[in-house]
Amino acid sequence: MSNARSVPAHLESLADSLRKTTLRKLFASDHQRAAALTRSLHLGDAELMADFSKQLITGEVVDALVAEARSAGVESLRTDMVSGRAINSTEGRAVTHMAMRATSDLTAPDALRAEVNEHDQLMRAAVDAIPAGIRDVVNIGIGGSDLGPALLCDALASMRKPVRDVRFVSNIDPVDLDRALEGLNPAHTLFVVCSKSFGTSETLANARRAIAWLVAGGVTRPGDHVIAVTAQPERVASSGIPARYVLIMPESVGGRFSVSSPVSVAVALAYGCDALGEVRDGMRTMDEHFVRTPAADNIAMLLGLVWWWNSTVLGFPTVAVVPYSRVLALLPSYLQQLIMESNGKSVSRDGEAVPVSSPIVWGGLGTNAQHAFFQLLHQGTHVVPCDFIGHSMSLGSSGDDHDTLVANMFAQAQALAVGVTADEVGGDTALRAHRTTPGNRPSTTLLFSKLTPRALGALIALYEHATFVQGAMWNVNSFDQWGVELGKKLANQVAADMGSVAEDMKGTPSVEHDASTAQLLQQHRVWRSGR
Ligand code: F6P
Repeated sequence: MSNARSVPAHLESLADSLRKTTLRKLFASDHQRAAALTRSLHLGDAELMADFSKQLITGEVVDALVAEARSAGVESLRTDMVSGRAINSTEGRAVTHMAMRATSDLTAPDALRAEVNEHDQLMRAAVDAIPAGIRDVVNIGIGGSDLGPALLCDALASMRKPVRDVRFVSNIDPVDLDRALEGLNPAHTLFVVCSKSFGTSETLANARRAIAWLVAGGVTRPGDHVIAVTAQPERVASSGIPARYVLIMPESVGGRFSVSSPVSVAVALAYGCDALGEVRDGMRTMDEHFVRTPAADNIAMLLGLVWWWNSTVLGFPTVAVVPYSRVLALLPSYLQQLIMESNGKSVSRDGEAVPVSSPIVWGGLGTNAQHAFFQLLHQGTHVVPCDFIGHSMSLGSSGDDHDTLVANMFAQAQALAVGVTADEVGGDTALRAHRTTPGNRPSTTLLFSKLTPRALGALIALYEHATFVQGAMWNVNSFDQWGVELGKKLANQVAADMGSVAEDMKGTPSVEHDASTAQLLQQHRVWRSGR
């Protein structure tokens, strides 16, 4: 794989022929369509049905996408990833998130698994050693050091009984930590300071305030109330943040791919190591499916290829992810980081411009989203492909209401695909144009029999792999994130110029600001000083 890739002519011509038809016609002309474009996977204690039939694809498109994936080298890149080759080329690192849950060399090399097991044993020992008196856990971290464990904890709350309460603090906005600490007793509180780099200013500032809160609350050995998680243990020591346990995540696991690493120790503290183990089991099931299933039947491969088809060939610039499950409320935010931080790139691995890369990922919870942005999905001028995610068995106390929830999900996908014509609308002629919905708007439905910790893990791994597949199709490096560095650097410089700055920002040299920034800075100084 070398250059930035353009869309081959035969895919463009398949897209042109699909533009001349509609989903309505495709379903009418092929009664096997739904079954033919659906794939299933057994997840141990749950089943997954992935229905791609409401996408603007045909069997011929699937075959062409699979062939295109082969010529793009997706499968060989996957082999390189599994074998531990440094496919994160700009950082010279292997990409080893699958090793965090691997039990065989199918998904990670033996030596790596041995190292991971060692770190995992340390995590289990730390969790087991936490005194019963610790009743509350506060995870301090941001990005991948927050979103994954927060998603898991929020979801597991309806599946497993918590051992401890857990809260999440990510933002440097002091309100975030203030609110998280409300009602907590320092003597009974444990902080997980989670930062792969142990250099993220928001996390370190919040951690220092948390330590000060412990000390002010009479805790004489604050380090006993801190677990640090990082790939840079020596920075924990030099940060001055005391920690009883320092858990290690490998440098080769990207922050946004780190949910199955010790980054999720808060999950183990709140719901037990076994619950986290079940999530990892589900991830491994998806990993093994991804690694060994031929592309045409590979749900992760197809999900990634369909996203690529929609953005790159059909030209739809955004995707809405809509879980119909309260416990997946944090999934859209989680996926925003996973997908956009991975594939929001403008150059290929070789530094050549790529014309299209990651779609903009957004979304929200069904049915709430129906009463917010669905009007645009149905009748707006943008076509927004959707991923609908739901499960048949309720996690709440009413199966009937859950059925209504699922019915809404099916109905929305149907309305988007089929629409309603002016003739079908009938009634007042003047209103017909307003009441017509065009249909032909693509979606995938991921339906689980039930959402167990394993199913949740499989869902997360599914999107990890779909992200990988898209990155490989565009030939971008999905595992670096240089774009976020400039903003971080400038934030440090602006903060230094404000005078009142956090410890980690001190000493950053002042720079010349553009006129707008200088003006904002000046106004802020005035308002901040109360003049
Ligand atoms: O936003 C950039 C980023 O580096 C993410 O990739 C990462 O998940 C987040 O910051 C937090 O980084 P760390 O875990 O090193 O504190």
